[in-house]
Amino acid sequence: MHQPVLLNEFLKYSRFDQPDTKLKLWDGTLGAAGHFIAWLKNNPQGIAFGSDQDADMLKIAQETVKAAFDEGENKNAGFLSRVKFLQSNFSDNPFHEFAPFDVIFLDLGISSYHLDSLNRGISYRDTGLLDMRLDIANGEPLSAWLKRASYEEIRNVIYKYGEEGFAPLIAKKIVEQRTTEDLTPDWLNRICINSYARAQKSKYVKNPGVKTFQAFRIFINHELDHLEKSLKFIPELLKPHGVLIIISFHSLEDRMVKHSFKALEKIKNDSMFAKSQYRDGNYRILTKKAIVPDQNEIEMNPRSRSAKMRILQRIC
Ligand SMILES: C[S@@+](CC[C@H](N)C(=O)[O-])C[C@H]1O[C@@H](n2cnc3c(N)ncnc32)[C@H](O)[C@@H]1O
Repeated sequence: MHQPVLLNEFLKYSRFDQPDTKLKLWDGTLGAAGHFIAWLKNNPQGIAFGSDQDADMLKIAQETVKAAFDEGENKNAGFLSRVKFLQSNFSDNPFHEFAPFDVIFLDLGISSYHLDSLNRGISYRDTGLLDMRLDIANGEPLSAWLKRASYEEIRNVIYKYGEEGFAPLIAKKIVEQRTTEDLTPDWLNRICINSYARAQKSKYVKNPGVKTFQAFRIFINHELDHLEKSLKFIPELLKPHGVLIIISFHSLEDRMVKHSFKALEKIKNDSMFAKSQYRDGNYRILTKKAIVPDQNEIEMNPRSRSAKMRILQRIC
């Protein structure tokens, strides 16, 4: 079961205190639509736009939303006229014609479905090919890239996006074995396990493949590039007082979000007569420190443990 991360915090900042009940949400990482459905249920007049780059996830989301409003007290709530879906990368600004929004939400990374059932090679337990793409109509599968990349390129990806100390050893084994072995998740996982074992670390680490798999997924999907591009235009899609809520699961993403929010809150003063070097920008940060799941949520949903939520509000 997919469990939405930091759901109460997301709802708390979702502008329901407003007298305007026709609030507008854009969820750019729809996933299994957990946050999306909760938002709609809490705001019976609200209008919600949902997009995901993964066509399979979008289908799952659409079915889940429909089922959530097909039963019980919400039956016939007219929800279909309140929602719109699109398959798109959020960095392509899919709903720009419907801006401005009261809430824009990005819950970065992957859904539990990617780890448990879609079999794209994202999890070391997958039995299929080593693909890793979230949008399988575009880009290059990981297996194809691994066959042509140099040792240095492979090592650098594992090191940069996975912060994996054994990157040189793992990259060396990949290059040694890539012409003789089938490139499957199991093969890659065995390389990671053997690399840790050689360094006698395996008894301290439960899943030696985690960092390497994460690194390749971030790289193959250009996840940081899409985030960087989006942080440049998404804040401008907010209404005055509207909020941008971002949950990240990787320190590089969180750093990027934090710095870009800071740069919007305080702008460099260009005037030579200005008293201080910085002036207030058109946005303010609502989370001086990132919001993180409490112990209870981590116990219920261990995948939430690295989540960090940051929120930016447009002032004018
Ligand atoms: C953590 S899940 C979202 C979970 C969702 N909030 C829920 O409650 O079910 C992240 C989703 O974002 C999608 N995604 C990741 N990066 C994306 C991007 N750059 N553009 C569009 N969708 C993206 C993934 O395909 C995945 O379905």
